[in-house]
Order: sequence, then structure tokens, then C-alpha cells
Amino acid sequence: MEKIAVSRFVVKEFRTAEAFKTLRTNLMFSGADVKAVALTSFSAAEGKSMVSFQLAASLAQAGKQVLLVDADLRKSVMVSRMRVRRKIEGLSHYLSGMVNANEILYKTDIPGLYLVFAGAHVPNAAELLGNASFDKLIAALKNTFDYVIVDAAPVGQVIDCAVMASAMDGVIMVVDTTHNSFKLERRIKQQLEKSGAKILGVILNRVDLAEKNSYYGKAYGYSYDSGDGSSEEDN
Ligand SMILES: Nc1ncnc2c1ncn2[C@@H]1O[C@H](COP(=O)(O)OP(=O)(O)OP(=O)(O)O)[C@@H](O)[C@H]1O
Ligand SMILES: [Mg+2]
Repeated sequence: MEKIAVSRFVVKEFRTAEAFKTLRTNLMFSGADVKAVALTSFSAAEGKSMVSFQLAASLAQAGKQVLLVDADLRKSVMVSRMRVRRKIEGLSHYLSGMVNANEILYKTDIPGLYLVFAGAHVPNAAELLGNASFDKLIAALKNTFDYVIVDAAPVGQVIDCAVMASAMDGVIMVVDTTHNSFKLERRIKQQLEKSGAKILGVILNRVDLAEKNSYYGKAYGYSYDSGDGSSEEDN
């Protein structure tokens, strides 16, 4: 199994690292049956890929066996961001029946952290992800790994995450607090729930820590709230 160097991308800044530890703890307390988790958002560039990677690395550093799956089959940037230069077989190759599951698993230089890259970009991503072989793959991976963290495409643009949601134990929404309205977020939460997704929570990204009297500024830059509908925004 080939090894990819990713430890240099793990965030070192104290407050941010602490925030990911809190997120990791919250996920670990979500229940033993919550193993396969997708991260999505309403629009692009809200921080899904960054949060997925940091969360997966944080779980691995806590001694868990973790697989980070890049399921953004349309425009994934994981290969280029991790500066991988070799030819990679990824999820789209597997879902198209071109390779076996063990051929898409990559070890990293973080003990316990493994990767599945998206593979070649495909136009029929929703079709591939809605396929029974994706469900089967996730079910099999859950036997091998403690956590399968899936970095998904934004739901406001494509239905990919909604179609794969049934294979997941839960979905976490990443919200860029600098530009999205909670109304929109609520709409996609409902859309995901209609497709059978269990929303585990919401991560507020890019919270302004410098803002005076900011609640989050006192504690951490990323917040993980219950998605059970009991918060003020959901009333
Ligand atoms: N809290 C943050 N502070 C600073 N930079 C951030 C933060 N969150 C995300 N970024 C940066 O913003 C860019 C977009 O983030 P990322 O790629 O994780 O978003 P995404 O939701 O996965 O986007 P896409 O929808 O295109 O897949 C990246 O360069 C990332 O490093
Ligand atoms: Mg992304």
C-alpha cells in the first residue's frame, strides 16, 4: 500500500487544534453506531475539505483507525492539495468497476489515517454515488475502520450528498459564517433529512474570533452544535 505524506497539513495553531479535538470528542460521543459520516455544505468553499481532513487526522491521532474518503467526484482538489504526483486510482475508478476496493486505499504518514481519493473527474457523479456498490463499499469499510469520514460535494449545487446520505450514519454540515444565511442552511437540512440523512450537527467555520462579545471568540473558532432541531435557528 502506498504511503502519502499528509502530516505537514495538520493544523498546529493551538485554538484551531483544540477546536478539532472538541469536534472529535463530540463525534466520538455521537454513539457507537455513528461510524460513516459525510461532511457537506450549501455552497462551495465553505470548508468541507479542510474540516474533513483535520477531523480525520484528529481522530487518527486519538488512536482510531480512520479512512478519509474524497467523494467530490466532480471537482476534487485533494490530489493537488496534498501534492500527490503519482497516478492515483480513486473512488470513481472503483465505482465504475475498474479496480478493487483495496486498490484505492492509501496509507498516510499519520498512523491510523488512510485515504481514498476521488479518482478521475466524472460527469455522472450522482449516478455513481447512488449506486449500490457505494453503499456496499461503505458498509465493508465500516468493518475495517473505526471512522469513515466522507468529504462530499455541496448540496446546494448538486444532489450527490443527498443520494449517498442513505449509506451514511450521519451528515455534518459545514457553514461558512461569513456569507451564508441560516435560512438556506435550514432548507438543505430539510432536503437532506428527506433523503434519509441523519444530521449530526453543524460546524460554524470562519467565525470571527476578534469580534467583541463574540460567544465563540471566548472558546473556539469552530462550533459544533446539535442538529436535533432544538436550537433557536430551527424554531
Ligand atoms: N477557517 C478557515 N480559515 C482559513 N482558511 C480556511 C478556513 N476554512 C477554509 N479555509 C480555506 O478556504 C479554502 C476552501 O476550503 P475547502 O476547500 O475546505 O472548502 P470546500 O467546502 O471543500 O470547497 P469545495 O466546495 O470547493 O469542495 C481552502 O483554501 C481552505 O484552506
Ligand atoms: Mg472540497
